[in-house]
Amino acid sequence: MKLHGATALVTGTNRGAGHHFAVELLRRGAKVYATARRPELVDVPGAEVVRLDITDPSSVDAAAKLAGDVDVLINNAASTAGGNLVTGDLDAIRQVMDSNYYGTLAMIRAFAPVLARNGGGAILNVLSAAAWATVEGNTAYAAAKSAEWGLTNGVRVELAGQGTLVAGLVPGLIGTRTLLDFAESAGIKLPEDDVLDPADLVNLALDGLEAGDIEILDRLGADTKAILAGPPRALDL
Ligand SMILES: NC(=O)c1ccc[n+]([C@@H]2O[C@H](COP(=O)([O-])OP(=O)(O)OC[C@H]3O[C@@H](n4cnc5c(N)ncnc54)[C@H](OP(=O)(O)O)[C@@H]3O)[C@@H](O)[C@H]2O)c1
Repeated sequence: MKLHGATALVTGTNRGAGHHFAVELLRRGAKVYATARRPELVDVPGAEVVRLDITDPSSVDAAAKLAGDVDVLINNAASTAGGNLVTGDLDAIRQVMDSNYYGTLAMIRAFAPVLARNGGGAILNVLSAAAWATVEGNTAYAAAKSAEWGLTNGVRVELAGQGTLVAGLVPGLIGTRTLLDFAESAGIKLPEDDVLDPADLVNLALDGLEAGDIEILDRLGADTKAILAGPPRALDL
């Protein structure tokens, strides 16, 4: 998928990895719709800023109508805080599933016809190594990312016929404020060598997309996936 001259829509661009996706796509010569629930916080010069809550069907429909020229959809936005499955708040567990799974699905359902009209294009879902392993304190997020991984595989099969490349990005740790705050509050010491700079991760992701890869892994993502091939164990990161 060539990004120079493409038209991309990125979700959750007001902070974190989403901001870096929008900036790098512009640098690579794409037109960019930089979307966010709070567009006033988006700081991506050169992008067209659009209000979008991926869990609000009318907001998703409006974005698909407005951005009818999109041929690259980057599903980055997600809640990362679901808490624990057994003892956590059920509303928080539903919310983390709502954005990671149903929100991503809503975006794909709304934009699949747009992508088809524009030649097939590509979808990149930002997953996580948490799809394959988990961490005490946020097991609900891991379960939601597992669901999103399954969704990515299913959609890839369904959209192959219209020529849409469906890729999953599976990072381990991205050094965003959200990760650093979570680690601090949970008393987790992060393995410094494995925490990727968000800008480096975005370059890895977009290089993979341009190469036509369907699954793009950083080192921790690859190591975590390898665990699945071994004997059964508690999948605790
Ligand atoms: N950080 C990591 O270590 C890590 C590792 C692996 C994978 N990931 C994945 O990478 C992606 C980005 O992570 P990040 O660390 O950059 O996250 P982040 O800094 O917490 O940013 C999350 C973004 O998603 C937006 N968002 C949440 N719910 C939304 C909704 N319903 N509609 C629209 N936007 C919504 C947030 O908007 P608001 O500001 O309005 O809340 C924010 O812009 C996520 O999919 C995450 O699961 C992160």
